[in-house]
Amino acid sequence: MIAVKNITKKYKDRTVLQDISFTVDGGEFVCIAGNSGAGKSTLIHALIGATKTDNGEIEVDTYKVSALNPEQIQEYRRKIGIVFQDYKLLPKRTVFENVAFALQVAGYDDEFIQKRTAEVLKLTGLEDHRNNLPHELSGGERQRTAIARALVHAPELLFADEPTGNLDPENTEALAKLLLKINKGGTTIILATHDKDVIGMIKKRIITLDNGRLVSDKRGTNF
Ligand SMILES: Nc1ncnc2c1ncn2[C@@H]1O[C@H](COP(=O)(O)OP(=O)(O)OP(=O)(O)O)[C@@H](O)[C@H]1O
Ligand SMILES: [Mg+2]
Repeated sequence: MIAVKNITKKYKDRTVLQDISFTVDGGEFVCIAGNSGAGKSTLIHALIGATKTDNGEIEVDTYKVSALNPEQIQEYRRKIGIVFQDYKLLPKRTVFENVAFALQVAGYDDEFIQKRTAEVLKLTGLEDHRNNLPHELSGGERQRTAIARALVHAPELLFADEPTGNLDPENTEALAKLLLKINKGGTTIILATHDKDVIGMIKKRIITLDNGRLVSDKRGTNF
């Protein structure tokens, strides 16, 4: 599903990704681990086509992400789900409207939008908050709204960059469980986090970056 081949990224003379290669199969849950500054976000940005790499190739399904023009990147982004640490919710729209928005823009009929949005709000445990505005939510609820929004168009692939960055331990654990549930439903997940507790809860494949290098790629509990 994903093939990263020898990518390198430099900012001026600083190498932040150094000859990174790996592949990910459909259905996998991959944690990108590593200390602050290791290059995790840069790698996620490269994978979603937000950052151009200097060398190498990134392929996701049929998309040669590293070679897309801006229009093709828009098309690619509509196929994937993306969640960041800052939720970027629309402040004057309710939870339901925030989640339904992408389907409305894509021109789906109202009946489908109601049904699909309700389904995703149920999955993320937000049914009781559907009519709340973002400022009326807790941090955990806001992050779950961002996840619901990223999933509403049923992407096969979800990218998340530090989604637990603003959450307390209880909400962090709930979010890790939610991501595992989403993965069990068949969605491939790439999760970048420096939080060893989160990685320990997820216990899936762990790719560790250190100073822009891929230093280990293993499965299971040993971080
Ligand atoms: N636009 C930029 N210009 C210059 N340097 C950058 C830029 N973006 C990132 N960097 C540098 O690249 C390195 C990797 O940054 P990156 O954000 O990928 O790290 P990270 O692993 O996500 O860290 P964190 O855990 O703090 O989020 C850092 O040293 C950072 O300062
Ligand atoms: Mg980061």
